Amino acid sequence: MPKELFGKDHEFLPRDQLLSFEEIGHLVGLFVDRGVTKVRITGGEPLLRKDLEKLIGMLEAIDGVEDLTLTTNASLLTRKARSLAAAGLDRVTVSLDALDDPTFQRMNDVGFPVVSVLEGIEAAAEAGLGPIKVNAVVQRGVNEHAVVDMARHFKATGHIVRFIEYMDVGSTNGWRLDDVVPAEEMISAINQVFPLEPIPPNYPGEVANRFRYLDGEGEVGVIASVTRPFCGSCTRARLSAEGVLYTCLFASAGSNLRDAIRAGEDVGPIIDRIWSNREDRYSEIRSAQTVSIGSRVEMSYIGG
Ligand SMILES: C[S@@+](CC[C@H](N)C(=O)[O-])C[C@H]1O[C@@H](n2cnc3c(N)ncnc32)[C@H](O)[C@@H]1O
Repeated sequence: MPKELFGKDHEFLPRDQLLSFEEIGHLVGLFVDRGVTKVRITGGEPLLRKDLEKLIGMLEAIDGVEDLTLTTNASLLTRKARSLAAAGLDRVTVSLDALDDPTFQRMNDVGFPVVSVLEGIEAAAEAGLGPIKVNAVVQRGVNEHAVVDMARHFKATGHIVRFIEYMDVGSTNGWRLDDVVPAEEMISAINQVFPLEPIPPNYPGEVANRFRYLDGEGEVGVIASVTRPFCGSCTRARLSAEGVLYTCLFASAGSNLRDAIRAGEDVGPIIDRIWSNREDRYSEIRSAQTVSIGSRVEMSYIGG
């Protein structure tokens, strides 16, 4: 939510339009009944939601939720890591796009320094919220230097950095194809300094391609969502704060489950219908436009 577009005058949704924790829990229960085992709380910034620990406790108590995770900018993580873990959160993913403040601020516009994020990561690790993943979105001409810097910094810490190709999410970020640094290029840059080899995914459909350091000091991942779209193996459903179900990160329209719940409808069959009819393949369609950058670099690293 860049400040130019979502400034001080931006009108946030009235509270009653947001799902209550009970409604979120009810919907998560319905998804779990349909085979979902992993639940990620993201945003926006999830740590800003009042009483988040209460929601975590409710989700953790749902039989069948095996992996309960949260993605955060870490602004409040140092303060909240312990209570999140105590409430039942399993892991966190922290967003960090560079280790130097000027680049970090340029990309995130968040008003707190890198050191706070690093402290948040350590607090989360101490609270047992690991293995911690660190998400770095890489943008051409902005933070390419961060790739090797961050690999070096987090190597041998047990935290796993995942470098993400810059995507046109939300169509508010003025995305251009030229802004994308292909995942192969990032891996090649790290490999020149710290030799790597590909390792298999942890589970089918994992979005990151994984690599281990040959010296045994951990792993890194890349998410090649632009040059190597994975629509065909995508199993993610997204539920917005106001209860809209999206079957694709890039979808501009979704289905309002909140109104169905509040109208007393049986929401399970609605979810079944939406899921079985989904045909999103936005990234694959987009990839037709990315052949030119994908072929500029050696492709053989990915997929091992
Ligand atoms: C949108 S954030 C929301 C959660 C939280 N506020 C945070 O900062 O982590 C979720 C993840 O999306 C990733 N992300 C954001 N913008 C992106 C973009 N243009 N391309 C690829 N990934 C992006 C970030 O790395 C972040 O880890």
